[in-house]
Amino acid sequence: MYKEEMLKVCDEIQKKSDVLILGIESSCDETSIAVVKNGREVLSNTVSSQIDIHTRFGGVVPEVASRNHIEAIQSVLNTSLTEAGVKLEDIDAIAVTYGAGLIGALMVGVSFAKSLAYALNKPLIAVNHIKGHMSANYIEHKDLQPPFIGLIVSGGHTAIVEVQNYVNQKLIGSTLDDAIGEAYDKVARVIGLGYPGGPKVDKCAKLGKNNIKFVKDALKNSFDCSFSGLKTAVINYVNSLNQKGKEIPVNDICASFQAQSVDGLVERALKACKKFNYKKLCVAGGVSANSYLRERLMTRGKQEGIEIFVPSLKLCTDNAAMIASLGYFNLMNNVGISDIDLDAVSNIEI
Ligand code: KG4
Ligand code: ZN
Repeated sequence: MYKEEMLKVCDEIQKKSDVLILGIESSCDETSIAVVKNGREVLSNTVSSQIDIHTRFGGVVPEVASRNHIEAIQSVLNTSLTEAGVKLEDIDAIAVTYGAGLIGALMVGVSFAKSLAYALNKPLIAVNHIKGHMSANYIEHKDLQPPFIGLIVSGGHTAIVEVQNYVNQKLIGSTLDDAIGEAYDKVARVIGLGYPGGPKVDKCAKLGKNNIKFVKDALKNSFDCSFSGLKTAVINYVNSLNQKGKEIPVNDICASFQAQSVDGLVERALKACKKFNYKKLCVAGGVSANSYLRERLMTRGKQEGIEIFVPSLKLCTDNAAMIASLGYFNLMNNVGISDIDLDAVSNIEI
């Protein structure tokens, strides 16, 4: 009953000139709610981060994350609405990340979104978090339109995709084991930088040299990639120095790990542009905040005649504006319009 009625409501929304979407994101350790107009204009993007809470555990503790989402979500909503200068009644539809992510954390956002949608009698739009990252580029670059090649680099995923249109992404290659962000976090922990590792490795790498060869890129000729071997090589290197009582060259390890994790990925993404005949490459996900990755992409993109698009730093890591943006494009294309029994799903494909 609810969904049938909402399909009709969506038909009406699609005819409007201005559409306001409330986006909800709680897949990991950020509770975020945003109001976005027409998929591109951010009226508010409130992010409540749990980094301080998880730092003392050295990583995200799923149960702790869920509990903190519950505590934060109502006030994040209030702040987001106030900042946007809108009331709940002004919102056209509620978009929510239903996967991929930590199941308990996702359930908080999904339950909250379902309650709001049902109470307000507004459509509920399910959004795939992995695809959602790419929408950060539509917010950042107002004239950007698909199709293009996408490189998604986050704590949970690493993939090269063909972004065929606003709602469809076709997988070209992905990691066979760890996600790149996961490897950054692990390496940071082993060399004592703590959580969250990515930004800390990035910072230390600036002071070091790429002078330690960890592993060969065995998948060089494939669009797939692997980070587990590189991560293990770093761990073994650090352990052997520790055993010998030698000093750990933290900055050089960071610079070497960073170059060896990023260079191959950049080449694969550029190769995908050539093979599938695209002149645009858009990067998204937490690791797209990495300064070396951004620099390398710009340099190599220029050399190869490929235009590079990256979101601003705030839109790289998890946020609800990107979810509201994809929620808008989903709604306009009749994708993800959900019933009130929508479930959170921990593992989903692109
Ligand atoms: O996209 P995201 O916020 O969450 C997931 O969907 O996973 O990505 C988080 C990941 C973490 O692994 C974090 O260490 C990494 O992004 N990250 C970075 C940087 N900033 C965040 N990795 C490398 N360099 C950075 N500057
Ligand atoms: Zn993410």
